[in-house]
Amino acid sequence: MGRTIIAGNWKMNLTPSQGAALAEELLPKLENAGCEIVLCVPYVDLAAVAQAIKGSKIRLGAQNLHFKASGAYTGEISAAMLKELGVEYVIIGHSERRQYFAESDETVNLKTLFALENGLIPIVCVGESLAQREGGQTDAFVAGQVRAALKGVSAEAAKGVVLAYEPIWAIGTGKVASNEQADETIGVIRQTLAALYGQEAAQSVTIQYGGSMNAQNAEGLMAMPQIDGGLIGGAALKAEDFAVIVRAASR
Ligand code: PGA
Repeated sequence: MGRTIIAGNWKMNLTPSQGAALAEELLPKLENAGCEIVLCVPYVDLAAVAQAIKGSKIRLGAQNLHFKASGAYTGEISAAMLKELGVEYVIIGHSERRQYFAESDETVNLKTLFALENGLIPIVCVGESLAQREGGQTDAFVAGQVRAALKGVSAEAAKGVVLAYEPIWAIGTGKVASNEQADETIGVIRQTLAALYGQEAAQSVTIQYGGSMNAQNAEGLMAMPQIDGGLIGGAALKAEDFAVIVRAASR
């Protein structure tokens, strides 16, 4: 499957100095990690965290970007701004942005295309609500989100996309998807990629699970055949818990 990536999503937590302190605390714990590690931090923390992780194997990520290169877009942040600070990854279409900030399949697509064109690795989030899961709509809905996000993305470029399957009902709720539920839906995402781009490309895409992944359940999730890593919210704010998750992904 795709290469294993554990990404921390700090969301709107930690000031620059607090963020740098957490990154410094993480460094010795992650020295022997056997997977890619990314910290997706608030925009204003990027410079401080970049400094803290300099020379280490931890990569830097943002939590959003705008889909235009520059201009009159008050409050927005461009790909060039992120790249100058050493950002390599960017989360796109997190369910909190879809829910609270009017992110749509269309803007997710524009941002994904723009990130790829500018050499940033998009971590594109998809996932169903509880009502959709209970209504048996999960597979069709998630497959639709994947197709919408990747509209216009070539097979070659698609290999460089990271997808995160994050069931909305599992995010920040302590209610994790079962290993089988996560693996099954990620399998559906991979089939969707295979239909779009062929088996070989589909197999090489990293597809993470996200939603209440923590130090206790990481090992079980990471043992599933379709799951290539995790997008970690709450547990990424605790150095030891995040380190345990990275170790689980390193086996
Ligand atoms: P959580 O968040 O781990 O706190 O559930 C995951 C995410 O929203 O990326």
